Amino acid sequence: MNTVKAIYPGSFDPVTNGHLDLIARAAKIFDHLVVAILRNAAKSPPLFTVEERVAMLSEGTAQFENVSVSTFDGLLVDFAHEQKAHAVVRGIRAISDYEYELQMALMNRRLSPELETIFLMPDAQYSFVSSRLVKDVFRLGGSVDGLVPKFVVERMKARGRF
Ligand code: PNS
Repeated sequence: MNTVKAIYPGSFDPVTNGHLDLIARAAKIFDHLVVAILRNAAKSPPLFTVEERVAMLSEGTAQFENVSVSTFDGLLVDFAHEQKAHAVVRGIRAISDYEYELQMALMNRRLSPELETIFLMPDAQYSFVSSRLVKDVFRLGGSVDGLVPKFVVERMKARGRF
């Protein structure tokens, strides 16, 4: 029997309820979903280490038997090939996400024509939620309850006002 495997790549710094909503949707479609955290991001220093992000994602996805958490370096298409994945899943919250996502999807297609990118929409209640805004709001003393899982709030509180 053919099993269809997908990769859901990202920074997940930290994982939000929007990410988890997307994971739940993708887990229903694919036989196996690998949530993959980029190790060598060029972005400004992350709030959480890759290991902390793996721990949080593992906790957040523990109820899904067909979801695993992994990390990768270098090109996404190389990791997808190593994993023998058929597709990449990315979330689109609003039209503003589309341009960047389309660019990445087409670049990945150029690098690996067999690998499809599938866009999924999170629930509308998460359409404004991003890891970057969650960090900003928290840093400035606002509540992020309901936007990220409780265990992420706890870890952010333990980190203090970074
Ligand atoms: O959650 P993010 O930060 O928007 O995720 C971006 C990510 C990790 C999916 C993207 O930066 C990526 O795939 N990086 C790996 C390097 C790569 O393959 N670059 C070329 C593809 S355009």
